[in-house]
Amino acid sequence: MPLNILKRPRRNRKSLAIRALNQETFLAPSDLIFPFFLLEGSNKKEPILSMPGVHRWSCDMLLFEIEELLETGVQSVMLFPVIDFSNKDSFGSYSLNHHNFLYKSIRNIKKSFPDLCVIGDMALDPYTDHGHDGILDPVSGEVLNDETVYVLGQKALMLAEAGIDIVAPSDMMDGRVQYIRSKLDQSGFTFVSIMSYSAKYASSFYSPFRDALGSHLSQGHKLGYQINPKNSLEAILECKLDEEEGADILMIKPAGYYLDILKEVRSRTQLPLAAYQVSGEYAMLNIAAQQGILNRDRALYESLICIKRAGASMIVSYAAKDVATLIRSGENPLEW
Ligand code: PBG
Repeated sequence: MPLNILKRPRRNRKSLAIRALNQETFLAPSDLIFPFFLLEGSNKKEPILSMPGVHRWSCDMLLFEIEELLETGVQSVMLFPVIDFSNKDSFGSYSLNHHNFLYKSIRNIKKSFPDLCVIGDMALDPYTDHGHDGILDPVSGEVLNDETVYVLGQKALMLAEAGIDIVAPSDMMDGRVQYIRSKLDQSGFTFVSIMSYSAKYASSFYSPFRDALGSHLSQGHKLGYQINPKNSLEAILECKLDEEEGADILMIKPAGYYLDILKEVRSRTQLPLAAYQVSGEYAMLNIAAQQGILNRDRALYESLICIKRAGASMIVSYAAKDVATLIRSGENPLEW
């Protein structure tokens, strides 16, 4: 004898077909951006121990990997150069060196794959011997804002000259979006977009990334420029300012523990939003899967679809290739 239950939402979940009709969020390979760690030289592919399945690549090897990536439907990559310690200094001057292999690599990648969207992260931390994202004041130990912004403006031009599609300032300096936009426009690069890391938190989840680049901090912390994880209003303000300064895409980072921020910003702007599933988020899921605690495919897919549900238009993820392959296989990882 059925009970007198008037509302039965389970009816909308009763079969695969009905669940599909009710599906609100979709994840496509073209929503994903694959971040790559780039080495100087040739014939190199080095595993990163704290990020199972992720490698550092020399450009020649990366071209083969990009070819495979494109077959999965992913159309966008982000590049992080791994700089030899002998080329690092306290100013990050190698970032503006015309011999820097990053610029040559971008030219090669764009020559081989003109339709690929290539995004260049712009912070100075790969280049500084102290690991900070800008120039340090030798006395106070603080990162100098305007001096750093000036360097970022030069760097944006060099990236644009090399053929980058989108520059992505990840340093959290004040006013950098406006300055970069004006530098690009003055030199005729009006078509180069800015994906601003607008709400970038001072997170402990970046640690494996710093292993990958050898960019661990030699002193201090990043709380003087990255946002305090205890705050949300600051993140909303940063997004608003970056929009006013001319950003084309706003980014929230990390993603998984910051979905409230993503959702809030989604309701306040018409700009597309990117979310960065960072190295620590990737490492946790993968190491749990290696231990047999989680199903890797399902956990990675779920982690990304939840980021989309919260409001991301696009997601930067080290799992991009694997999840895109899964989506392409036609299987629904959440219907097992
Ligand atoms: C550089 C930068 C960082 C990440 C992306 N760009 C590290 C940091 O700010 O310390 C982290 C990405 C990741 O953890 O995957 N500013």
